[in-house]
Amino acid sequence: MSFARFKEVIEEDDTVILYVNVNSMHALKVTPQIKNKNGALVSNVFQTVYGALKVDSLIGKKFGSKVKLTKGWVYVLHPTPELWTLTLLHRTQIIYTPDISMIIFQLELKPGSIVIEAGTGSGSLSHALIRTIKPSGHLFTYDFHAARVDVVREEFKEHGLSEYVSVEHRDVCEDGFGAAVTNRADAVFLDLPKPWDAVPYAVAAFKKIGGRFVSFSPCIEQVQNTCKALSENGFFEIVTMECLLKELNVQVRAMPILNIGAKETTSQKTYNTASPGLSVCGHSGYITAATLPPRQD
Ligand SMILES: C[S@@+](CC[C@H](N)C(=O)[O-])C[C@H]1O[C@@H](n2cnc3c(N)ncnc32)[C@H](O)[C@@H]1O
Repeated sequence: MSFARFKEVIEEDDTVILYVNVNSMHALKVTPQIKNKNGALVSNVFQTVYGALKVDSLIGKKFGSKVKLTKGWVYVLHPTPELWTLTLLHRTQIIYTPDISMIIFQLELKPGSIVIEAGTGSGSLSHALIRTIKPSGHLFTYDFHAARVDVVREEFKEHGLSEYVSVEHRDVCEDGFGAAVTNRADAVFLDLPKPWDAVPYAVAAFKKIGGRFVSFSPCIEQVQNTCKALSENGFFEIVTMECLLKELNVQVRAMPILNIGAKETTSQKTYNTASPGLSVCGHSGYITAATLPPRQD
């Protein structure tokens, strides 16, 4: 139950994040036993570079504790949507936290919002959506891949989130979002190969007062088709943006003081400097946001 609300002490069946270092984190379910490759139940022991951890030894420890292993230390952290995004098992491409933050902002979500998401994929975005809209809101999430739907439904259950989310196996481009959500949504989010096919169905799902729409697509051709469908279906304020991470090297540097006319430079001064990093900004995807105005139909 550790995703649904913050708690102090780790209990059996909780999901915890084992922090080895900033590049090495692992989500673990706190159980005494685990299935091995052959399906047999064996003792749940997790190997790290600092030694082996008997996972059920975490029961009774406080979240945030430093745990001693034979060759060093690890930390055991409370799960958050951000840490889950970094540690979940990828079944699909996933959306990462910089884009997730912009998506939630553009969808104008708050506790109580009714949100539609397709496709669910690996549930990376879903966890962040649920945290934003609970306890009184609800997420309706759809995917046409049956096995992914089963896995993510089980994860929501394990994380104590089932009451805030309904997961449905459905092709939303062929069959829309269904009668259960017609005229109910405050916001619709699409991460699909052909989001433009789902846009007319999104209109039917929105509340009569309208709401906010966001689509995430890696390719500009997808954006062009989506924007066309959005304006044909009555959306306005259509904006496409991209979240780019830019590194800056902040350093204290000593520089010679220019003394024009003097034979030698004699003194130096130290400055705080910031220069662009050498790494190139990586493209993740385009975020297209739009508003659906109130409608009469
Ligand atoms: C890139 S993944 C979504 C990842 C997700 N946003 C996350 O952060 O984990 C896209 C998903 O859309 C699903 N999908 C593609 N076309 C669909 C359709 N027409 N109806 C429902 N789901 C669809 C795929 O099965 C896949 O799981």
